[in-house]
Amino acid sequence: MDTYSHLANSARSIVDLTNSERISYIYRDHLIKFDQFNYVTSELDRLFHYPRQIRMPCMLLMGPTGVGKTKAVSAFMRRYRPDAQSQIGGFINPHPVVIMQMPAEPTQQEFLLKMLRAVNAPVTSAMKVSDLERMLVSILRDVGTRIIIIDEFHNLNSSTARQRQIVINTIKNLTNDTSIPIVAVGTSAAQLTIKYDDQMSHRFRPVEMQPFKPGKSLDEFLRTVVAHLPLRQRSNIDTREFKKRLLDLTGGITVNLLRLLSDSAALAIQTGAESLTLDSLSLVPAPLLSIPRQRKEPPFTSA
Ligand SMILES: Nc1ncnc2c1ncn2[C@@H]1O[C@H](COP(=O)(O)OP(=O)(O)OP(=O)(O)O)[C@@H](O)[C@H]1O
Ligand SMILES: [Mg+2]
Repeated sequence: MDTYSHLANSARSIVDLTNSERISYIYRDHLIKFDQFNYVTSELDRLFHYPRQIRMPCMLLMGPTGVGKTKAVSAFMRRYRPDAQSQIGGFINPHPVVIMQMPAEPTQQEFLLKMLRAVNAPVTSAMKVSDLERMLVSILRDVGTRIIIIDEFHNLNSSTARQRQIVINTIKNLTNDTSIPIVAVGTSAAQLTIKYDDQMSHRFRPVEMQPFKPGKSLDEFLRTVVAHLPLRQRSNIDTREFKKRLLDLTGGITVNLLRLLSDSAALAIQTGAESLTLDSLSLVPAPLLSIPRQRKEPPFTSA
């Protein structure tokens, strides 16, 4: 009897299910840990445990759309999600990791409201900015925040130069007043925002997630992903041609790689081929592949 030794335990336990059950398993939200993912989460961990001091180090996590920045910071947050027992009611619940998204065209008030809502603070848009600032510093202490992650940081470029500088000053004051490290997450346009301010660019160490290239990281990533695809035959993925075709079709972007491999595996189940081959990659119809267009960066306004 075939023991399906090419599969990870989770895939092995469902490989004998029906085609549709296996296909729906493929498209479930699996977390894949790979080189850059592990590096980013360990850097976040380092900041999380960094001894409190007046000038805390901060981080700028950047990379092209779809490389897995948000996935990595969300996985990190789940690591420190407080258990149900530590919930003490009202809005004062522990929030060791705060994640928020920079509003689309941020003003100082919208920024503060968004962060306060991220810790479930009872705020209304009628509240004054000075009150919101005071409230935020005191709530972050109460809820035990040790790291603040601001995703879609490049949205700041859509504000006017004046608004942008006010939000940047608010962020600098926040990390100084609370000794909480801040992680800005975004595409390369986020670096422009940081570079715009001297103090910020000294404080925010850039960490970059890059598309996959040929090499050990790609090999390990592929092995992990393919071992989780419940196909009944072993796939011959360890050839130069297979990897080259993958990179050509996906640009090495994580989300594209995962979609292409999932779509190919689903087709291999439907057709009965039961393994990935060089040809099966090209059989995925373009609409199924749905490689996202590179996002247009918001213009960097100077007035
Ligand atoms: N480590 C991972 N494990 C599983 N799936 C992942 C992983 N990283 C990325 N993905 C897949 O790729 C998609 C895009 O990833 P993510 O949203 O993290 O990209 P991003 O770098 O934040 O892009 P953007 O700049 O557009 O926000 C995710 O929704 C998920 O489907
Ligand atoms: Mg993202």
